[in-house]
Amino acid sequence: GIELGKLLAQTGYITYDPGFVNTGSTSSAITYIDGDAGILRYRGYPIEQLAENSTFIEVSYLLIYGELPTQAQLDDFTQKINRHTLLHEDLKRFFDGFPRDAHPMPVLSSAVSALSTFYQDALNPFDEPNVELSTVRLLAKLPTLAAYAYKKSTGQPFLYPDNSLGLVENFLRMTFGLPAEPYEVDPDVAKALDLLFILHADHEQNCSTSTVRLVGSSEANLFASISAGINALFGPLHGGANSAVLEMLEGIRADGGDVSNFVARVKNKEKGVRLMGFGHRVYKNYDPRAKIIKATADQILNKLGVNDQLLDIAKTLEETALSDDYFVERKLYPNVDFYTGLIYRALGFPTKFFTVLFALGRLPGWIAHWREMINDPATKIGRPRQIYTGEKEREYTRISER
Ligand code: ACO
Repeated sequence: GIELGKLLAQTGYITYDPGFVNTGSTSSAITYIDGDAGILRYRGYPIEQLAENSTFIEVSYLLIYGELPTQAQLDDFTQKINRHTLLHEDLKRFFDGFPRDAHPMPVLSSAVSALSTFYQDALNPFDEPNVELSTVRLLAKLPTLAAYAYKKSTGQPFLYPDNSLGLVENFLRMTFGLPAEPYEVDPDVAKALDLLFILHADHEQNCSTSTVRLVGSSEANLFASISAGINALFGPLHGGANSAVLEMLEGIRADGGDVSNFVARVKNKEKGVRLMGFGHRVYKNYDPRAKIIKATADQILNKLGVNDQLLDIAKTLEETALSDDYFVERKLYPNVDFYTGLIYRALGFPTKFFTVLFALGRLPGWIAHWREMINDPATKIGRPRQIYTGEKEREYTRISER
C-alpha cells in the first residue's frame, strides 16, 4: 500500500477523499472494528468480554502496552498512576483565569497543553523513559484536571486527590466531594463509570485519534497532541454528541414529548436537526458498545432509583427510528452516545460535562496511538494534498484601480 501510494504521488495523481472515508492513514495493531458485523476488539479481546471482566486501568494497560498485565504489572502501573495525581500548585491557579461559566472542554484542553510547561525537560518524543513518564502523568492528572474544571464551574474549592482510592473513585470524590464533608463513593456509580470508560477507551482512527496522530507526526510532544485530541473531541459530531443527545431529548420533552414530530423534522433535513446519537461512519449494522450501554442504562437507573422521563423518550425515539425506512435505508443505528448521557445524568453530572467524561475514557487510546505512531518506522509527517479550485494566475491591480 505504501509503495503504491508513493508511485501514484510520482505520477502527479492525487486521491480525492473528503472525510477520508476510504483512506487508510496508517497501519495499527491496537483496535479492530468490523462495522458490518458490529465487532470491536481491543488488542484482539472482544469489547463484550472486557466490559464484563476487566477494569478501566487494566484496559488502559492493554491498549498502551499490547498485553493484559499480570497482577504484579497491574499493581505497579496502578501505584505509579496513584503517585502522580497531584497537580503543581501553580497549575491550580491557572483555573482562576477562566470565566465561571466556561465550558469544561476548552478548560481541559488548555490545562493539558499547559502541563507541558511544567515538564519542559521531559518532552522529547523519542526519549522512551520520558514518554513513559508523560504517559503516567497524563493518565494520573487528567481526572484531577477534569474534576477541577467541574469545581471551577460550581465555584466550590478544589480537593486534593486521595491516593488510597482507585482512579475512578478518586475522580468522583474530587468532583462531588466537599472539604468539610466526608464523601462516600457509591460502588455502583464507580462501577458504571468504569464500564463507560472501558467502552470509550479506543476506536481506531476516529476524528480525535487521527488528530492526535497528525499533530504527533510533526514530533510535537504527547501533551500538545492530546490537547489537540481533546479539542477535536469537543465537536458535536464526535464526542460532543453525548451532550447533544441530552439537549435533543430535553427539546423533545419541552415540545410536549412529540417524538414523531421530531423524527419528521430530521427526515426533512431541517438545518441543524439530526437524530443525535444515531449513525456512525464505520458501524452500519449496530454499535456493539451501544448494545452494552442500553442494557446497563436500565440496570443503573433502576439501581439508583432514577425514574427519568428522558429515558422513555429515548426508547420511543429509538423504536420509531429503527422501524422507519429513512433510517433503515441509511443504516442509521444508535451509537455509543445515544444512552450514555442518560447514565451520566443519573450519576449526577451536568450535561456540559459529558464530553469531558468521554475524554477521560478515550485518553489511553490516544496515548496508545501516539506511541505506536512515534515508534513506527513508516511514520512521516501528515501532510495531505488538495485539489486547487481557485483563480488561474492573474495580474495584481493597484487599490486605486479596483
Ligand atoms: N440523523 C439523521 N440523518 C443522518 C444522521 C443522523 N444522526 N446521520 C447520518 N444521516 C444521514 C445523512 O443525512 C445522509 O443522508 P443522505 O444520503 O440522504 O444525504 C446519510 O445518513 C449518510 O450520512 P453521512 O453524514 O454521509 O455519514 P457520515 O459517515 O459522514 O457521518 C456521523 C457519521 C457524523 C456520526 C453522522 O451519522 C452524525 O452526524 N450522527 C449524529 C452525531 C453523532 O451521534 N455523533 C457521534 C458519533 S460516534 C462518536 O463519535 C462516539
